Amino acid sequence: AVFMAIHGLQTGLILAYKSALKGLKSNFWEKRRMDLAELNKVAGAMTAPGKGILAADESSGTIKKRFDAIGVESTEENRRDYREFLFRTEPAMKDRISGVILYDETIRQKAADGTPLVKLIEAAGSIPGIKVDAGAKPLAFCPGETITEGLDGLRDRLIEYRELGAKFCKWRAVIDIGDGIPSQDAINSNAHALARYAALCQEQQLVPIVEPEVLMDGDHTIERCEAVTMWTLKTVFMELYYAKVQLEGMVLKPNMIVPGMKCATQASDEEIAQRTIRVLKDCVPSAVPGIAFLSGGQEDVEATARLDAMNRIGGVPWHLTFSYGRALQHAPQVAWSGKKDNVPAAQAAFSHRAEMNGLATLGEWTEAIEKKAA
Ligand code: 13P
Repeated sequence: AVFMAIHGLQTGLILAYKSALKGLKSNFWEKRRMDLAELNKVAGAMTAPGKGILAADESSGTIKKRFDAIGVESTEENRRDYREFLFRTEPAMKDRISGVILYDETIRQKAADGTPLVKLIEAAGSIPGIKVDAGAKPLAFCPGETITEGLDGLRDRLIEYRELGAKFCKWRAVIDIGDGIPSQDAINSNAHALARYAALCQEQQLVPIVEPEVLMDGDHTIERCEAVTMWTLKTVFMELYYAKVQLEGMVLKPNMIVPGMKCATQASDEEIAQRTIRVLKDCVPSAVPGIAFLSGGQEDVEATARLDAMNRIGGVPWHLTFSYGRALQHAPQVAWSGKKDNVPAAQAAFSHRAEMNGLATLGEWTEAIEKKAA
C-alpha cells in the first residue's frame, strides 16, 4: 500500500509538472503574439507612407566631424541646441518624420526651457528611438574589417532606454568592400551580432532596426556591391531566423546598390533603383513591414531621387522609406553654421529635405518640385 501511495504521488507530480510546463509554453506563445501585434504597429508607423526616419544618432566622434566641417565647436550645449531646433522644426517633424534615432547623450538631454528632447519628438507625433550599439571595432585576424560591439549588458540598457521613452532601437553593422574583403568571418560575426541584438530588443518590447551597411567607400563596381549586399542580407536573415526574431516586428535598414564612390563607372538613378529592388526581392521576406534606407554618403538629392525611383517601380511587399542621417542634415547644418540667427533658415532647409524625401516614399518627387520648393 505504501508503495502504491508513493507511486501515485509520483505520477501525480509528473502530471502536474507537465501540465504546468504546457501552461507556461502556451502563455509564452500567447504573450509573444500580443507583443508582436504591438511591435508590428510601431514598425508600421516608423515606415508609414509619406514619412521616414531622421537618423540623429551621431556618436560624439561623428557629430564632432560634422560640426568641424561647419566651424562649430562640439560642446554639449551646441549639440543640444542643434538637435533641439531640428526636433522643433515645423512642418517637417509633424508631417514627414515618423521617428528619430537618438544617441545616449541626446535621449537624456533637455531643451533650453527644460522640456526633455524626447517630449519634443513625441509632441510632434513622431516616435523616439535609440542607437544601442557601441560602434564598429577591429575584428581579430581580419585586417581592415570590423565587428560591431555592444551586446554585453544590452538587456539592462534596453530596459533603461524603454523607461526613457524609446520605442525602437538601431544597431549598425559595417561591411567594407576591398581587396580580398569582405571575409566570411566578418559577414557571419556581424550578422550573428545583429540577430542577438534584434532578439533582445523584441524580448524587451522594442522594435529593432537591423542595419547591415555595405559601405560605398572605394572603387568597386556596382556588380560587386550587389553581390556583397546579397551575401550579407541572406546571412542576416538566416541568423535572424535562428535567433527567433519575428520579422513582422522589425525594420530593415540597408544600403542601396551603388558603385563605390571612386569607381570610374557610375550608375543612373534608374539602374540603382532596379538593382536595389531586385536584391531586396531576392533576400528580404515579405513579412518585414518596412525597409528604411541609409544614405551612406550619397548626395542629398541623389538619395531622394533614388528612393523615388524605387517607389515608382513599386510592386514590392514592404514600404520603402528613408532613415537618413547626412542626406537630411547636411543642408540644415550648413545653413545653421552655429549661429542663432540662422536657425529659421536651417529649419527651412530641414523641412525642405524632409518634404522631398516624404514625396519620394510615395514616388511623387520630381526635379521640378525640388527646384521650385528650394
Ligand atoms: P547616413 O544616412 O548618414 O548614412 O546615416 C544613417 C545612419 O543611421 C547610419 O548608421
